[in-house]
Amino acid sequence: MALLLTFHALTSLLLFHISFVSTATHTHHHHTSHSPNHNQHLQKAYHALQAWKKVIYSDPKNLTGDWIGPSVCSYTGVFCAPSPSDANTIVVAGIDLNHGDIAGFLPEPIGLLSDLALIHLNSNRFCGILPRSLSQLSLLYELDLSNNRFVGPFPDVVLSLPSLKYLDLRYNEFEGPLPPKLFSNPLDAIFVNNNRLTSLIPRDFTGTTASVVVFANNAFSGCLPPTIAHFADTLEELLLINSSLSGCLPPEVGYLYKLRVLDMSYNSLVGPVPYSLAGLGHLELLNLDHNMFTGTVPLGVCVLPSLQNLTVSDNYFYEEEGICRDLTSRGIVFDDSNNCLPDKPHQRSQKDCEVVLDHPVDCYDHECSATAPQASPLTAGPSLAPAPAPA
Ligand SMILES: *[C@@H]1O[C@H](CO)[C@@H](O)[C@H](O)[C@H]1NC(C)=O
Ligand SMILES: *[C@@H]1O[C@H](CO)[C@@H](O)[C@H](O)[C@H]1NC(C)=O
Ligand SMILES: *[C@@H]1O[C@H](CO)[C@@H](O)[C@H](O)[C@H]1NC(C)=O
Repeated sequence: MALLLTFHALTSLLLFHISFVSTATHTHHHHTSHSPNHNQHLQKAYHALQAWKKVIYSDPKNLTGDWIGPSVCSYTGVFCAPSPSDANTIVVAGIDLNHGDIAGFLPEPIGLLSDLALIHLNSNRFCGILPRSLSQLSLLYELDLSNNRFVGPFPDVVLSLPSLKYLDLRYNEFEGPLPPKLFSNPLDAIFVNNNRLTSLIPRDFTGTTASVVVFANNAFSGCLPPTIAHFADTLEELLLINSSLSGCLPPEVGYLYKLRVLDMSYNSLVGPVPYSLAGLGHLELLNLDHNMFTGTVPLGVCVLPSLQNLTVSDNYFYEEEGICRDLTSRGIVFDDSNNCLPDKPHQRSQKDCEVVLDHPVDCYDHECSATAPQASPLTAGPSLAPAPAPA
């Protein structure tokens, strides 16, 4: 989570810098000239912002109330800065309407804001699809459209933004599959959680650079592809909470040696925890809560040097190796409740455990292992469904 904080800090810094420049510019304008803009960039921005204002239907905080006249740098939520290619030209570099509760959509002329480095529209009611013209924002570095009402297939237009590093589409209504190209773009952070995304996490991708990937709360299906290992050189946080994942965890997860946070809770993962996870030397948080893992909680995980919090509750583990039995003595937050551990309190009933443990899973045979061909999305199978607790 430290990384998420880093991104926030970076954003605030950028905004601070931009707004500072914008204030300075205003003062300057006051003293020197009252003439209309000679600056082509600001004129184009004026047209874009007026077109945008026309398709805003509700603005309860009146944020766009002062979007009047050519002085776009004084508009609420609009931040100006010197152009990176010409320090003497002031351009619109940022839009921040976070928590505006504004209803409307993004019109085609928004592509005229071609100097934008960041767009923050978190927690508004923007709807519809993203206009194609967004592809003209060649300097756009941060795009935060989270918590709005955008719909349609994954917006491929964001994949054509050459400078984009931070993509936040969470809490919208995007549906359908994720394009493999999302993971080949040079992004730092990808948030697509809480949408209506479906189908498999793509397995055919290479060249990814992301350090944070959050898939949580989508209706993906199938297994985590072994190609997840392609993230190894950059990935620090992988959140796959409640993503309808099934099948075995591929040993390749253990190649993600930079991981600090791995959260796979609320899925239908089966089989043993791969011993390769012992290679995650930076792992601080591992959450396997609410899956159907069996076998042992491996010693190699329990002795990871950076581990702070290990959650294995709500699975079918029947053994804990060595120190795993007493992790709290190492000062680690540990929850192993609701498993099949013979000597531990708060475990499943024997009957409940037998239903699952009598049907061991062979991960080599598994559709998602590196050697197996990829077939239709896996289901855990009816025999693996936990039996209702006896009355
Ligand atoms: C909205 O803001 C504008 C400009 O600041 C102001 O003139 C107008 O009266 C405001 N409208 C409401 C409904 O408060
Ligand atoms: C899991 O995700 C689905 C959407 O795929 C959502 O409807 C459900 O509320 C989520 N469950 C939890 C526990 O968050
Ligand atoms: C440990 O991790 C679990 C699951 O991720 C979380 O719910 C809990 O709040 C964490 N506890 C601490 C003390 O960080």
